[in-house]
Amino acid sequence: MRILVIGSGGREHALVWKIAQSKLVDKVFCAPGNAGIAKLAECVDIKAEDVSGLLNFAKKEKIDLTIVGPEVALSLGIVDEFIKYKLKIFGPNKKAAQMESSKVFSKQLMKKYNVPTADFKVFDNPEEAKKYIDKIGAPCVVKADGLAAGKGVVVAKSVDEAKQAVVAIMQDMIFGSAGEKIIVEECLEGQEASIIVITDSEEVVVLASAQDHKRINDFDQGPNTGGMGAYSPASIVTPDLFLEILDKIIYRTIDGMVKEGLDYRGVLYAGVMLTNEGPKTLEFNVRFGDPETQAILPRLKSDLTEILIAASEKKISDLKILEWDNRDCVCVVCTAGGYPGKYETGKEIFGLEDLDKMNDVIVFHAGTKFQANKIVTSAGRVLGVTGLGDSIKNAIDNTYAAVQKLSFEGMHYRRDIGAKAMRRDF
Ligand code: AMP
Ligand code: GLY
Repeated sequence: MRILVIGSGGREHALVWKIAQSKLVDKVFCAPGNAGIAKLAECVDIKAEDVSGLLNFAKKEKIDLTIVGPEVALSLGIVDEFIKYKLKIFGPNKKAAQMESSKVFSKQLMKKYNVPTADFKVFDNPEEAKKYIDKIGAPCVVKADGLAAGKGVVVAKSVDEAKQAVVAIMQDMIFGSAGEKIIVEECLEGQEASIIVITDSEEVVVLASAQDHKRINDFDQGPNTGGMGAYSPASIVTPDLFLEILDKIIYRTIDGMVKEGLDYRGVLYAGVMLTNEGPKTLEFNVRFGDPETQAILPRLKSDLTEILIAASEKKISDLKILEWDNRDCVCVVCTAGGYPGKYETGKEIFGLEDLDKMNDVIVFHAGTKFQANKIVTSAGRVLGVTGLGDSIKNAIDNTYAAVQKLSFEGMHYRRDIGAKAMRRDF
């Protein structure tokens, strides 16, 4: 088979790495890819949002299956376009992708189908939103309805901060039309976990749990980022809790989507807050998590390509039970200095060849590119170093031993990825 993976981050490197190992696969393309992906796949210079460019490429190259990494192409309707031309593609269509592209859509679906989530109200008028904030007080959470590259959520500690978020999103329109509507919701407390499943609307393949680390600095300090590291499994998600999340969040949502007439095929990723009142949904994403994927896929022994084909053909019921590597897996993300604010690119990366020699360590590239035969940084999140170990401690030690061998000017990483799993006693 000829496979096209769309995207250029660490998640896409992990997908390409896994897919390239499949017996079903002869050749992998990646658009646009990065310097690490280029070792495993032919990178093609088409942007992940260029739906017509990707469609023409898939037609010309007779691609058998396309896998969409990031959410933007899904929200633009890439799946609908490919299906028109009978091209097989993994991911939800435009209508179903609203589960991520419109927080109002997904919250209303959750409410209708009794999926636990924070209490909320939707506003299209900033003055009404501010009045409501005065009424409920702080802390509270203000969310832009549409896609905002992971920056559209403000967890406000004071009424003033919440009102400023309303002004920025609805009046200054910092996220453009994504801020025409907002949600103001109750602030939840607890630890977060990522539960990622693959569904064809009827059946579900459940992937291992993971925990992301969103803040830039150790001990969850500083601003939110795209994700600074992850580990899998997330030991806080005990077997009973996992079943509760599947039952109350995942299956209720999929049933609800079917009742709403959505033909949902693809990844359904629930960001869950584990509160004292039980698990509550923070958000849904319609694609694999980044960096969760870099910590989950190295543990998956089964053939991912088979699963993705089955989901896109509505044949998940034909699949065998998944096989997993029982070891723990940790991914530490190395970022450019200054990220998630301003940062420089074009810094040479040293030490990559040393990591190739290490056992149970994989480096997934994110913002890297070739420049004059060197690998240099090209974005905020640069590399994800993934390590396996027969305990969470060993996985952490293995991963950080590898991280220490890497360097580039301004390199930053968190030193506490996975530490929450160590602090739990059971
Ligand atoms: P979202 O994009 O909706 O997942 O929000 C991004 C991040 O904001 C989440 O991972 C949480 O850390 C935080 N967040 C979102 N909603 C809430 C909430 N209701 N209460 C507390 N934190 C939240
Ligand atoms: N790890 C967070 C996300 O993929 O949205």
